[in-house]
Amino acid sequence: MVSTSLTPLPVDTSRIRKDIQELQPYLVEWRRHLHQKPELGFREQLTSEFVSQKLQEWGIEHQTGIAQTGIVAIISGRQPGPVLAIRADMDALPIQEENEVPYRSQHDGVMHACGHDGHTAIALGTARYLSQHRDSFAGTVKLIFQPAEEGPGGAKPMIEAGVLNNPDVDAIIGLHLWNFLPLGTVGVRSGPLMASVELFNCTILGKGGHGAIPQHSVDSIVVGAQVVNALQAIVARNVDPIESAVVTVGKFHAGTAHNVIAASAQLSGTVRYFNPGFEGFFQERIEQIISGVCQAHGAHYELEYCSLYPPVINNEKMAELIRSVTATVVETPAGIVPQCQTMGGEDMAFFLQEVPGCYFFLGSANLSRGLAYPHHHPRFDFDETALSMGVEIFARCVEKFCHPG
Ligand code: NI
Repeated sequence: MVSTSLTPLPVDTSRIRKDIQELQPYLVEWRRHLHQKPELGFREQLTSEFVSQKLQEWGIEHQTGIAQTGIVAIISGRQPGPVLAIRADMDALPIQEENEVPYRSQHDGVMHACGHDGHTAIALGTARYLSQHRDSFAGTVKLIFQPAEEGPGGAKPMIEAGVLNNPDVDAIIGLHLWNFLPLGTVGVRSGPLMASVELFNCTILGKGGHGAIPQHSVDSIVVGAQVVNALQAIVARNVDPIESAVVTVGKFHAGTAHNVIAASAQLSGTVRYFNPGFEGFFQERIEQIISGVCQAHGAHYELEYCSLYPPVINNEKMAELIRSVTATVVETPAGIVPQCQTMGGEDMAFFLQEVPGCYFFLGSANLSRGLAYPHHHPRFDFDETALSMGVEIFARCVEKFCHPG
């Protein structure tokens, strides 16, 4: 059954080791510091400086300025072994914060409304812990602090800059604090977790004229309305009902007055699916439909189509690693939620195309404390208890994955 309650499950903090419990006040401090200074994608200057300064303070080898503001830190264990990467995103959103908290955003119109401030704090905490416990693992951990997850995407340029090489990464893990799940739960599954993200912009080019004399015009609004309707038939009639996909037209702008036939109409939309086999399919069908409807009415069109992120697909073995580790941190079986797929997108997908890995959701909602607003909401905030749980899960993953070979 899918958990619909956002009331937390009991968190047994004794399952979190003492050294990580002691980090909790610092995790909160770092997260709140970052929350007050949110920065948009590829402009994470202050965030990047903060991360670098902490790593330097702790004597952790790292490289800055990758894909503009990205950072990669390397922590070696007691002897050579597997290389595990841990990825955290650092960017905020163009949203005006409405929370009245002492740590509210000090940057007008910019807010950490997705929890990436928490992801950065968890990765920092993990770095701090591992750097003090290098004897607890054999191998190397690469911490990837990534810019611009919310778009246009920092994962791809970081991969192109070589962050998965030298030393070559064997596997990658990452988490998203998740307010659609209560504190005390972890959403983990193998296979598709999050959907592809494709975008399109279409201009319908008709012929303007008098609203009372339509016979001399080509009404772009009538054509556009038929396009919106016809596009819904792709999912309804061309996609196997067992598969999941969605086509949404989120924007339709046209016209200037009640008695004027609009010469052009602008439509924008997004396409989501889990199955990588759909790559190229929606683009083709969307263009066929727009072209056919326009032709039927004597209109023309311009179409821009862009594939932003592929689907996030988890490797089975790595998902099992996360599941087994999580089972020692949360109550089982209620704390592990396998029905956690979402049509939201994530550029973690690019890392998972390169190396086996697992991305998972760390439940962070706490309805009893009013911390249950959805991601990207101006009142988004999460239960910070999840921060040390995140560090504990990452630390245990490292110990289990990087064992003496
Ligand atoms: Ni996010």
